[in-house]
Amino acid sequence: MLPIETQRTATLKSKPSNEGLGFGKYFTDHMFRMEYAPERGWHQARILPYGPLGLDPGASVLHYAQAVFDGSKVFRGKDGQLRAFRITDHCKRLAASCERLSMPPVPVEVAREAIEAVVKVDAEWVPSAPGTSLYVRPTVIASEAFLGVRPADKYIFFVILSPVGSYFAGGAETVRIWVEQEHTRAAPGGLGGAKAAANYAAGLKASMEAKKRGYAQVLWLDALEHRYIEEVGTMNLFVRIGEEIITPPLEGTFLPGITRESALQILRDWGMKVSERRLSTDELREAHKKGELREVFGTGTAAVISPVGGLGFSDGELRIGDGKVGEVSQRLYDTLTGIQYGTVADRHGWMSLIK
Ligand code: COI
Repeated sequence: MLPIETQRTATLKSKPSNEGLGFGKYFTDHMFRMEYAPERGWHQARILPYGPLGLDPGASVLHYAQAVFDGSKVFRGKDGQLRAFRITDHCKRLAASCERLSMPPVPVEVAREAIEAVVKVDAEWVPSAPGTSLYVRPTVIASEAFLGVRPADKYIFFVILSPVGSYFAGGAETVRIWVEQEHTRAAPGGLGGAKAAANYAAGLKASMEAKKRGYAQVLWLDALEHRYIEEVGTMNLFVRIGEEIITPPLEGTFLPGITRESALQILRDWGMKVSERRLSTDELREAHKKGELREVFGTGTAAVISPVGGLGFSDGELRIGDGKVGEVSQRLYDTLTGIQYGTVADRHGWMSLIK
């Protein structure tokens, strides 16, 4: 067990109402923090009042972007119990992201204990309304003040918490996604498979352009040929053509989503035909022309299961299922959230109680 010192805040914040939660706007009263130095490894684990980190302006994260994060959720069940979703898998992914950016990985058990400890301190912040949860954001940054280009030798690991509702403004409605044909997000051999902060910076320009066209997000295509669909930055993508449900294979250019993996498992449990294979925009358009493109949905921690009602191309939009939520998307959403809130059997042991 990690020795964690706890310093409680003297002034508790007032909690937001469930209605206006949105995503990532509010932060709880406390945060977890620990430091890394070569001679001491990860040390000085503590929970302290939420507040600024006090970084040196020379800190290498600010110059060379050694920053990774993860995102998971804690749910308040109908029975009042707090349950974390696949928390060990999230901590493993955080460690893998650290490795990719030459940062010292936070040991999986340490990250898990840190998250559980800070969630316990701020347990009252876990909202209970349907569709709400406590979003957990563990982050690792390089804090050494040094301008030479090499991996830093000092790091900070912190965990902040945010009570959230729906990621997309429209809630359970479908979203429209722009198929990006010009910019790319991540090339083979790059950072796409890690949850590196820099990946999100790389996507902002195209997202803003898509927003101006009225689209919620961008669907990235492969960087080499601009032909194969990859992911939507904040979510992985699934496409139903006829009876086949297709999602792009993990080839290192986008994040191995934990909700993606869970959706694949649930679909397989239902005996559906699921393929992890490449899918080109030509095949997508062809299927649409033949009336076989039945559903498209995104999966992600923040996005949960987000049905897509339209895919925008420069020569027009493919409308999907009349812009309405598809049958598989709805069933998946109900099952996954049922598992998360403790009303559907958790047959794969994804949930862990926080008490
Ligand atoms: C998540 O789903 O946890 C994400 O990290 C997406 C996000 C950047 C909002």
